[in-house]
Amino acid sequence: MEASPYPEKLSQAARLIAQAERLRLLTGAGISRASGMPTFRGHDPTWADYPRRRFATYRGFRDDPVGVWLWHNWRLAANLRATPNPAHRALAELEDLWERLGRDFQLITQNVDELHQRAGSRRILELHGNAFLARPDGTPQDFPEPVRLPPPPFPQIPMRDERGRLLRPHVVWFDEGVPESIRRRALTLMAEADLLLVVGTSGETVLARRLVERAREAGAEVIEINPAPSRLTPQSALSLTGRAEEIIPKLVSLVKLELRSSPG
Ligand code: OAD
Repeated sequence: MEASPYPEKLSQAARLIAQAERLRLLTGAGISRASGMPTFRGHDPTWADYPRRRFATYRGFRDDPVGVWLWHNWRLAANLRATPNPAHRALAELEDLWERLGRDFQLITQNVDELHQRAGSRRILELHGNAFLARPDGTPQDFPEPVRLPPPPFPQIPMRDERGRLLRPHVVWFDEGVPESIRRRALTLMAEADLLLVVGTSGETVLARRLVERAREAGAEVIEINPAPSRLTPQSALSLTGRAEEIIPKLVSLVKLELRSSPG
């Protein structure tokens, strides 16, 4: 007996995906939850008001760079202990499949945790930077040469580069914006989409909503995967209600079956 409560919707989603020439994915914190990474707006205490203001704003960094680097050391250590879950791995498989078919694939993520990369995804645009990188304080978010941080524990707190300049984590903090170059690139990718799969994001950021809107303006269908309704649910032609780590592996298996039964 099939345990899934949404078999028909799942097959419908698989059929739509199998037809997509230009497939886009937008992921958020929910996809990494099964790997032990906290989401921002659930009940995970990591991002309660106090740590958010103190450790994840530029203002907090300016007031207390040592505190922010200590927090970042802790956060990165937790991130390194986390491993990609079946959702990350299935998306990497989907990308391989699209590459073999000579079709266009692009993953756009709000996550900074590198779990997509560790699962094998390659075509990734990171909207909010990358927690494993750092750049000199005062340089822009699209600074071309961020440095890779050593694994925690960091050798010095706060971290400095070889020229003694104060470094800062290469992420977009709560009081900062996504750099224009990355925003534009993301919007262009969405404008080319014929199908968009949205996974594990609340859609609370303006840019996430704008990206989905842009894909729809381009005529793309939107499929959402989320255990709870989000601000993107009304924009979605199909909502698959459930956890990414359970739904995506099944979905990718169904897409493979679809492709086999309708080659070309
Ligand atoms: P949120 O914490 O706002 O939303 C997480 C979403 O994941 C929610 O809609 C949950 O229902 C869903 N979710 C939870 N568990 C899930 C699972 N197992 N499978 C699938 N979905 C699940 O996180 P984001 O939308 O990613 O930006 O937040 C966007 C941005 O807001 C973040 O990147 C961060 C924050 O401001 C910056 O730090 C700049």
